[in-house]
Amino acid sequence: MVLRTVEWKDNSVVMIDQTKLPNTLEYVTYTDYNQVADAIRNLVVRGAPAIGVSGAFGLALAALQSDATEKDELISFLENSKKILFETRPTAVNLAWGLNKIMQVANQAITVDEIRTNVVETAKKMAEEDIQINMAMGKNGSELFDDNDTIMTHCNAGALATVGYGTALGVIRATKDSGKNVKVIATETRPVQQGSRLTAFELKHDGINVSLIPDTAVGYTMANGLVNKVVVGADRILRTGHVYNKIGTYQVATMAKQHNIPFYVAAPLSTFDLESRPEDVIIEQRKASEVTGIGDKRTAPDGIDVINPAFDMTPPGLISGIITENGIAKPPYEESIKKLFKAN
Ligand code: MRU
Repeated sequence: MVLRTVEWKDNSVVMIDQTKLPNTLEYVTYTDYNQVADAIRNLVVRGAPAIGVSGAFGLALAALQSDATEKDELISFLENSKKILFETRPTAVNLAWGLNKIMQVANQAITVDEIRTNVVETAKKMAEEDIQINMAMGKNGSELFDDNDTIMTHCNAGALATVGYGTALGVIRATKDSGKNVKVIATETRPVQQGSRLTAFELKHDGINVSLIPDTAVGYTMANGLVNKVVVGADRILRTGHVYNKIGTYQVATMAKQHNIPFYVAAPLSTFDLESRPEDVIIEQRKASEVTGIGDKRTAPDGIDVINPAFDMTPPGLISGIITENGIAKPPYEESIKKLFKAN
């Protein structure tokens, strides 16, 4: 069975509840955009492209929920819903991308009926396109990987982080589908274990050879020749090639550089933010309880101070290439990223 992370069905949004994985594959159904906002905030759905499409679906629900009879009234309801959805997670730029696209479509329509029809159709189309884009990205990226490579990945940039197929894991899937034999090393990805709960789950589900390591074993595996290449996803990429991704990515990239291991990033064009500079990017800080315990079990003393950033920034000098649906950007990134967008 192919995993479909988020879907529009009978005027409602259906998602896999990722907080329940890997023990239970459970689907939740939402008819209120506030439920979608809560789901994004609480990591029921997570991963940049998946929250981009979920945000779009959330706004589509809002359009159906509103009893507005005039365009202005409906647009102002949607603006307010957009704000609530937008504030759930600040770092992944795909969320703003998804919400802005829906608002643009809403503003262009003339009547309230037209707005409702067009926003639902656009959000559904964005979901379908996400899978196509990931497959194109996978095909492009597969050229960088060889038969018998062992590929490290961090966090979950797979089917579960997108509508389906995945970005970094999409590249791994496409490499395997091109006939090459590959193995994956997945980092556990503390504090909420997207690596062990999600990446290990979905690769095992698809029969891809995967070994799990604690985050602290990245140096060991690289120093002992157990890894040939790294591929990760991204939450935001600046025009300079600065990559924001799950906390710990910077450590993996630094260690890869130390051991001359190519470090690749796979992300759709919707993850690029060509406007911001590094000092503009907000790094989401999450709650202390993610660090002071594992699941329900407390593993740190009461009252301990905690620093829990969800993302870090990997500078362009550590990145060997950025894989997109429009091709692969190589250093110097200011030029190569510009070219990717020109090709659009
Ligand atoms: O906090 P999360 O689980 O939303 O973080 C996800 C990541 O950092 C992913 O690597 C990123 O969103 C890319 S997903 C294709």
